[in-house]
Amino acid sequence: MLLSLQDVHVHYNKIAALQGISIEVEEGDFVTLIGSNGAGKSTTLRTISGLERPSAGEIRFKNQSLTRLPPDRILKLGVAQVPEGRRVFKDLTVLENLHLGAFTRGDQAAIKSDLESVFGHFPRLLERSQQLAQTLSGGEQQMLSIGRALMSDPILLLLDEPSLGLAPIVVEEIAKILLEINKRGVAIVLVEQNAELALDLAKRGYVLETGNVALQGEASSLARNEHVKTAYLGI
Ligand SMILES: Nc1ncnc2c1ncn2[C@@H]1O[C@H](COP(=O)(O)OP(=O)(O)O)[C@@H](O)[C@H]1O
Ligand SMILES: [Mg+2]
Repeated sequence: MLLSLQDVHVHYNKIAALQGISIEVEEGDFVTLIGSNGAGKSTTLRTISGLERPSAGEIRFKNQSLTRLPPDRILKLGVAQVPEGRRVFKDLTVLENLHLGAFTRGDQAAIKSDLESVFGHFPRLLERSQQLAQTLSGGEQQMLSIGRALMSDPILLLLDEPSLGLAPIVVEEIAKILLEINKRGVAIVLVEQNAELALDLAKRGYVLETGNVALQGEASSLARNEHVKTAYLGI
């Protein structure tokens, strides 16, 4: 098992955002978390990354507990997050943003080779490498946000709503690249409100409802589940 969450609870003051969530991710896996607004998807990702602290439960990554580690240590272990709303540094160039993604690393040759691989996935970032991030379109900023996460050389990539607010054609392009990244061995946990897209891309899925795992299984069988169809696929 690459990552496991065991009975994880998270509170914001007195609000119980996660009420005992258990999730497992294998090496090279592609897992999606779907669910309505407020279900706890972002909180789950932020807790894995160390940005929120569980009030109970255990998170393990490669047989090591993450539960009390700070975010920079978790990043260094190989867990990178692409946050909701693609927070790129708008006053920095594309290249500078990408280099920031590698801030925990020292091996310049490996960093250079990963930069080439990011430009391989996202040729448009290479064309625009000297431009300020603020000049990029929304889709390109999402690509930059993913590219920056890849610059940490992750084993596990967490993505929070990468399709939000993007045109369908751009969403398709990003989806294709996520599959490529996964094929190269990076495990992915994808949070999406676009359940149709997410279940199409992922191997397995979890449905979160009010801080609990309501359903889990193969993505293809979740897509055929009657409750999932009516509640999340609009069928
Ligand atoms: N910073 C916060 N302070 C207080 N409550 C929060 C905060 N962030 C999220 N919540 C609450 O926690 C619950 C889960 O939110 P979130 O993880 O953002 O859900 P999702 O990403 O599925 O929409 C919601 O009830 C939300 O209102
Ligand atoms: Mg969210």
